[in-house]
Amino acid sequence: MKKPVIAIDGYSSTGKSSISKIIAEKLGIVHLDTGALYRGITWFALQNCVNHDETINLTELFNSFPLIELEFKNDGGELVLFLNHINVSKEIRSNEVSKNVSFIAKQKEVRDFLMESQRNLAQKGGIIMDGRDIGTVVLPNADFKFFLTASIEERTNRRYQELINLGIDTDEQQVKENLIARDKIDSEREIAPLKQANDAIVIDNTMLTKKETIESILAYVKK
Ligand code: DC
Repeated sequence: MKKPVIAIDGYSSTGKSSISKIIAEKLGIVHLDTGALYRGITWFALQNCVNHDETINLTELFNSFPLIELEFKNDGGELVLFLNHINVSKEIRSNEVSKNVSFIAKQKEVRDFLMESQRNLAQKGGIIMDGRDIGTVVLPNADFKFFLTASIEERTNRRYQELINLGIDTDEQQVKENLIARDKIDSEREIAPLKQANDAIVIDNTMLTKKETIESILAYVKK
């Protein structure tokens, strides 16, 4: 029997990735955090394609695509992002990357560059992909689509704790402002904006634990 293709979209810090990871383990399927791909490109741009005034040089970035190799490697059951053979899983969570990633993710060239590999990965089935446009654009025929949302206060608290746990020194107000700014750019961009697919199941997990959110998703998938 073909294993399911599951799309999980939603606002930043609604727990999409950590929830998807556990669901993948429970169902014996692969998990792909597509946000990590956009963060990887952003990290590359910040390292290699910066103007004198420290803004990102998009032309240079687009011309560099042939030099960018993004790869997920299995590290003790966890898929870790490697960029040109370097493990960048910690770097891509930095504030600097978070501040710039929505600007990079709204570029058509960037989205086109990442589209094919995302679709190829889903072809054989047995995958849960989380992002912003998975159910609407990348995998419109996914077997199951979920859209996660939660209050800004709860999401700020979650991202703040995540950064602290990663050993990244940060300020809670700054985390909140970054989430608001990112959601705005992600929702208002022209190409593949963050929005709920018509056939997505919406889950507001402000008052739900991670476990409860997972159980709620699994209840639909196992039906
Ligand atoms: O899931 P995340 O917060 O790590 O994602 C980082 C950024 O990448 C997010 O602000 C928007 C962008 N993104 C996107 O545009 N499309 C996706 N499928 C996944 C992420």
